[in-house]
Parts: sequence; structure tokens; C-alpha cells
Amino acid sequence: MSTNSLPRTVTVTIDGAPGRAWAGQSVSAALVAAGIWPLRRNPVNGQLRGPFCGMGVCLECEVTINGRPGSRSCTAHVTDGMDIRTHTEPLPTAAHG
Ligand code: FES
Repeated sequence: MSTNSLPRTVTVTIDGAPGRAWAGQSVSAALVAAGIWPLRRNPVNGQLRGPFCGMGVCLECEVTINGRPGSRSCTAHVTDGMDIRTHTEPLPTAAHG
């Protein structure tokens, strides 16, 4: 087997931390492989959500990729230098007046 047929790894940033992934791998697969699930919170009820359909339909895998929010991580492919941000931070509490 030629070394040219081996998958190539690339460097990414996940929530500000350096990481590695296979070039061309889906972003959601790279995140789950890195032990990162869930990827976002439901904006209505705050439930943690993660990849479900794996084909761009359910929107449960949305993250911010290279500054673009609402990116479906299951249909995006990892590229070298990609900046990936998940959205699992706690929801802001309602202001009490
Ligand atoms: S997992 Fe359903 S849209 Fe990505």
C-alpha cells in the first residue's frame, strides 16, 4: 500500500482548543470522535442536542464553523485550520427586575 492512500490528518480548533481530525471527515464525526457530544442547546427548552439524522435534515448538529453560525456539522467536511465552535454553554438566565 502506498502512503499516498493513507488518510491525512489536519489541525482544527474546537472551542478554542487545538485538535486533529481526518481530512474530509464530517465535522460532526470529528467532534464525536473527540468525545464532544452534544453540540448545541435547543433554543426553546435548553435541552442539549447532538447529531441525529446525519444527513442535514434535523438541524440538531448545528455549530459555528469558521465564524458561520448555524452550520450543519454532519454535512460539512473538516479542512485544515478549521475553527469549530459548539453551543453547549449554559443559557443566560432571565433578568429579574
Ligand atoms: S445530524 Fe441532522 S442535520 Fe446534522
